[in-house]
Amino acid sequence: MADLLKLGVLISGNGSNLQSIIDHIEKGSLQAVIKIIISNNPDAYGLSRAKKHGIPFVVLKNGNFKNKEDFDAELVRILKDNGVELVILAGFMRIISPDFIKAFSGKIMNIHPALLPSFPGLHGQRQAVEYGVKFSGCTVHFVNEGVDTGPIIIQSAVPVLDDDTEDTLAARILKEEHRIYPQAIQLFADGKLEIKGRKVRIKN
Ligand code: GRF
Repeated sequence: MADLLKLGVLISGNGSNLQSIIDHIEKGSLQAVIKIIISNNPDAYGLSRAKKHGIPFVVLKNGNFKNKEDFDAELVRILKDNGVELVILAGFMRIISPDFIKAFSGKIMNIHPALLPSFPGLHGQRQAVEYGVKFSGCTVHFVNEGVDTGPIIIQSAVPVLDDDTEDTLAARILKEEHRIYPQAIQLFADGKLEIKGRKVRIKN
């Protein structure tokens, strides 16, 4: 069997996307291994998920570092020490620095709860409800130096209903997040993702 793709997963909160990645790995539909989970929030519920599944984790508190560069240098060190081949941002509530992006060029993925380039930044679901769009969804993309601007790998659309609130729409979108994030990671593991400028081609 080919070597499993080594993941580092960065979280700040609930970690339901982390859970879906763990579940897909455990049931064999994702050929990867989570080498390390890193949270910048000591109270993140995702850390309980790490413990439950016996996955190593580290907490890096924002306040313990002089600046963003020092924080990110430590992140990079931990990820490299663990042999991480693909960095997964899963609700990681920090903008990462250019040095971090350089250290893992083309090897950082994020999931965003809207159909990019619509509604980047915080509260993508609230923005969609307030704008009145009829469809929204989620986007898995590679990370570049902008906020939610990197090359798009997979998107999934869901309807926005007349009586939706931010929460009801977020729940509908989250189901799709849990489906497409593991799928995008498996495509990477299979060597099927080719980045050409802004575009990601899925081979075969
Ligand atoms: C998700 O909505 C994701 O799209 C966004 O942050 C949220 C994380 O949720 N980037 P969870 O922590 O994975 O449950």
